[in-house]
Amino acid sequence: AGCGGDGGSGGSADDGKITMGFSQVGAESGWRTANTKSVQDSAKSAGVDLKFSDAQQKQENQIKAIRSYIQQKVDVIAFSPVVESGWDTVLKEAQSAKIPVILTDRAVDSADTSLYKTFLGSDFVEEGRKAGTWLTEAFKDSKDPVNIVELQGTTGSAPANDRKAGFAEVIGADPKFKVIASQTGDFTRAKGKEVMEAFLKANPDIDVLYAHNDDMGLGAIEAIEGAGKVPGKDIKIITIDAVKDGMQALADGKISYIVECSPLLGPQLMDLAKKAVKGEQIPARVVTEETTFTQEQAKEALPSRQY
Ligand code: AHR
Repeated sequence: AGCGGDGGSGGSADDGKITMGFSQVGAESGWRTANTKSVQDSAKSAGVDLKFSDAQQKQENQIKAIRSYIQQKVDVIAFSPVVESGWDTVLKEAQSAKIPVILTDRAVDSADTSLYKTFLGSDFVEEGRKAGTWLTEAFKDSKDPVNIVELQGTTGSAPANDRKAGFAEVIGADPKFKVIASQTGDFTRAKGKEVMEAFLKANPDIDVLYAHNDDMGLGAIEAIEGAGKVPGKDIKIITIDAVKDGMQALADGKISYIVECSPLLGPQLMDLAKKAVKGEQIPARVVTEETTFTQEQAKEALPSRQY
């Protein structure tokens, strides 16, 4: 690429190299750091010229970055939308400029699905269902109400909306499961700790914490220990992601169960991007393969965990 002669522009490549503009959500979690590394490493090995920007969890920064990629005439734009709504205008601008867009990790709620070529990422509703299924199994013999607190991800984001919905769908089948408090912890450790402290003050009788990611769960563990309770015993914890620190807490018995969400999207993204630029047909949806971990499984998996 770089046929514009200014060294920075994309455009169709005479050297076969494509230019990708990638707008990342931020660096809010261990998952995100691993995702960024995966995208950057795979771009390098796939020979993709990557322009990368970190939006610091702000939609306006992502819109700015996408507009600048359009101006630079990159060959393809990929981004992980911080929230689901509000993308139509900028996506239409990319479409008018004939630049294919790939949604990575998170979805948008645009009714017009022709605004992007494909969506590569996890099934977040299914992740929430898996968390709920473990919980209903673990408490199947309990006659008492099960008091649950929930730490939600970033408000308005696809993983927060979907993980909440999938979990609620499964536990909703039995009225003994009660979500007594649910609030956002922004997918960060610091906010997870802060909100859990407030939950503990307001609710003396919490049985279960469902955190939409490991980082918030890890912050909450500090709050639980600070309140003189034992995570994993007094309060069972379920999280999503399976990053190393989360897996360590699972192996240590502090977390009870983790639903995996894989951040290693880079290789598939580069492959889809090359095809999209060539105008080849690509599937409208590519779902990431992932598993779940019990405490025993975490001990086995930890030594070879990549992130
Ligand atoms: O969109 C994926 C989610 O975003 C991860 O589960 C979370 O850790 C990250 O911040």
